[in-house]
Amino acid sequence: MKIILIGYMGSGKSSVGKALATHLSVKFLDLDAKICAEENKTIPEIFSTNGEIYFRRKEAEVLKKLLEREESYVLSLGGGTPCYGKNMQLIKNTASVTSIYLKTGLLQLKERLIVEKDSRPLIQDLKTPEVLEDYIRKHLFERTFYYNQSDLTVLTDSKSVEEVVHTVVESLD
Ligand code: S3P
Repeated sequence: MKIILIGYMGSGKSSVGKALATHLSVKFLDLDAKICAEENKTIPEIFSTNGEIYFRRKEAEVLKKLLEREESYVLSLGGGTPCYGKNMQLIKNTASVTSIYLKTGLLQLKERLIVEKDSRPLIQDLKTPEVLEDYIRKHLFERTFYYNQSDLTVLTDSKSVEEVVHTVVESLD
């Protein structure tokens, strides 16, 4: 069993992923963390030193390696992962994968990302909440096409991490 969590930045992929893996007694993997470990740099450092194209190449390479593993796991992707190259196709073609889109509304994403934007190179320079909201709205519009190809969609608005995990587990049955 491989569960892959998909969703925009700030949708809770990592916190839900950790709690879900604990609940299911399987390993938790975080794609961004794997990339950082391989590069020995933070995500902002990879973007500023090597550029986004390098990051996207690395992201696809590490994803492919993780999908080839035999073991069961919960894997949280980066917000952009399913939207580049053949990543979503690869996810859909991999045996025993269930992909889950954690769908979070624009306003909640904005509230979360306002306080967390410094660790995220794509949004760290957006100065006001209004500019950030505009950016997320347009970006979500482009990315939803890919997110919607997930096997399941779970709405996360006004749910705690535990409630999202509960809903995910129910929809897996
Ligand atoms: C990105 C999302 C980030 C990280 C990188 C790019 C994106 O992951 O992979 O900053 O393109 O949406 P999170 O979704 O975990 O913030």
